[in-house]
Amino acid sequence: MKKGFAAAIAVSLMSAAPAAAETIYLTAGRLLDPVSGRFTEAPALVIEDGKILKAGTASSLAAPEGATEIDLPGKTLLPGLIDMHVHLTGDPTKGGGYSILGYPSERFVIWAVNNANKTLMAGFTTVRNTGSDGYETLAVRDAVNEGEIPGPRIFAAGPPVGIVGGHCSDNNYLPPEEEATGLGVATGPWEMRAKVRQNIKYGVDLIKTCSTGGVFSKGTLLGAPQGTLEELTAIVEEAHMRGLKVAVHAHGNVGIKNAIRAGADTIEHASYLDNEAINLAKRNGVYLSMDIYNTEYTLSEGEKNGVMQESLDKERQVGGVQRESFSKAVKAGAKMVFGTDAAIFPHGDNAKQFSRMVQFGMTPLQAIQAATSVAAEALGKSGELGCVSTGCAADIIAISGDPLSDVSALESVDFVMKAGGVYKNE
Ligand code: ARG
Repeated sequence: MKKGFAAAIAVSLMSAAPAAAETIYLTAGRLLDPVSGRFTEAPALVIEDGKILKAGTASSLAAPEGATEIDLPGKTLLPGLIDMHVHLTGDPTKGGGYSILGYPSERFVIWAVNNANKTLMAGFTTVRNTGSDGYETLAVRDAVNEGEIPGPRIFAAGPPVGIVGGHCSDNNYLPPEEEATGLGVATGPWEMRAKVRQNIKYGVDLIKTCSTGGVFSKGTLLGAPQGTLEELTAIVEEAHMRGLKVAVHAHGNVGIKNAIRAGADTIEHASYLDNEAINLAKRNGVYLSMDIYNTEYTLSEGEKNGVMQESLDKERQVGGVQRESFSKAVKAGAKMVFGTDAAIFPHGDNAKQFSRMVQFGMTPLQAIQAATSVAAEALGKSGELGCVSTGCAADIIAISGDPLSDVSALESVDFVMKAGGVYKNE
């Protein structure tokens, strides 16, 4: 009975997911290839089986017979964008701090479905979901992959692995008698390994852990390390052994260095960087994923939304420092990806971060690469995602305006294709 009902819903939503079987001939005003950093005028792409089969220009590449032709005159094509840090289950307008405890977990899944759609409509065809209470975002991922609901490709971390009372636990809202603890909370290297194995058993795509406190967890300190080097190393070893990458939340300097020494693949937030941390990141090929937009949203809307005073105070402490660190890291040539922590601000506004990345030191092209080719590299998906050449997934967006002279042009996306399916065409 219950199953039949679910199936009926799935069928009615099916139309949201376009079929990708046909051959498409896509032409536009121009195309920006972030890999080469060059524009192609009057580009033409032949798309088949969800991939770019041929890439050329309207004059060099003719429409194959029977192809569906889509022409976007005057528009600029780019690869679909990648946000390396989102939490689809989160919605800042639903209240911060304690009010979130009033919602049943099912409600988060409903938000996640809506947020997945908003994210895709904003031109983000791939996201990394860097943590959720349970395994619900894996279900969202699978529903997207099977065409039941519209959404970006989701790389999901599932429950973060971390220490008791840490930023990766349960945010420490409840009193002791509730004995509340996150699914990934553990003590000691072997327990940490067990949590990693559990997450892998249930199908996560990456492991998320925390090596410092955070802004939105109660009673944690941004500067205080969390987890010993031994524990962090155990998490990373176990994940790498199974072919998964590890994203480590770290604000404070010591925690950032611990995470890099433990073998982390990406550092999330990376707020307090000194030269040693930047050099360590560079030497170890670690990507920095710095969410420098959301500080503005939290400081202007947080109080109204019910964010805890403690979190507002910590945000005031870290926002400016993180932006200075961002500038330093850009100057030093560290590898940097686009990660926003959407959920702290409304999903769909992810692209607002581009202009801040430029304001704090990147060229527009660097900011675009951080959300395309460099992000794909960090995911281990170079040549597949974040690119617009032969063999790449047909994840393509179109915008008006020139993103290299004004990167905020990416805040308004007119056309979204994912795996050859058209989800938006305005
Ligand atoms: N999830 C992060 C935390 O709670 C968000 C930090 C947001 N602030 C910032 N300036 N990046 O720590």
